[in-house]
Amino acid sequence: MIAPSILNADFLHLDQEVAMINESGAHWVHLDVMDGVFVPNISFGIPVVEAVSRVSRKLLDVHLMIVQPERYIRAFREAGANLIDFHVEASDNPKRTIQLIQEEGCRTGMALKPDTPVEDIYDYLPELDLVLVMSVFPGFGGQAFIEETYSRVERIKKRLVAEGLKTLIQVDGGVNEHNAASLYAAGVDVLVVGSHIFKSQDPMAAIEALNGKRPGATRYPSWAAS
Ligand code: DX5
Ligand code: ZN
Repeated sequence: MIAPSILNADFLHLDQEVAMINESGAHWVHLDVMDGVFVPNISFGIPVVEAVSRVSRKLLDVHLMIVQPERYIRAFREAGANLIDFHVEASDNPKRTIQLIQEEGCRTGMALKPDTPVEDIYDYLPELDLVLVMSVFPGFGGQAFIEETYSRVERIKKRLVAEGLKTLIQVDGGVNEHNAASLYAAGVDVLVVGSHIFKSQDPMAAIEALNGKRPGATRYPSWAAS
């Protein structure tokens, strides 16, 4: 599945960008929230998520790159988030943060930076709807994909299969038409794609081409397949 990240969209015409996503074959909208502390950049926050939620017909996937994410779970749910991804490195009490997201009735994603050992999230897998494997250091769109991501995804996938879990794997950063098929083959379910879509002459066609890389037989949980 494809989750376009609006980080590199035209913010002056965000309504048109979301309308394009609505019309396209993309499945989710990915919203990158950055606080300038957890990552060296500031993007947007609650009002923008709320505005997008008013026009979006796709699942709203909110990626929190902020310290102490537990403080803002309710606010993002109220703004329209369906899935909230927080970083395992950013929370003092990841178990509690997962619980808070569940209590708000949202789906739960746990994200990890490229240099965080994948084993750090294993204990949480049974509680998670999604694992977000960063394939660039979070903070900016348009960075080069880190090749080690494939083996990290494969290890997480193996662990999920061994435990009989339906947790989805999402990859975020530097994804394009050339690495999409290999990522699906490694076990990825959801591709976050920013600049490859929004810097393209024809974003809808770019999404179509990415969808063409998806293996046909894949089945997704009903909450995920909008
Ligand atoms: C990076 C963000 C990504 C980013 C992806 O911190 O989490 O979602 O927008 O953008 P591209 O596809 O341009 O790497
Ligand atoms: Zn993201």
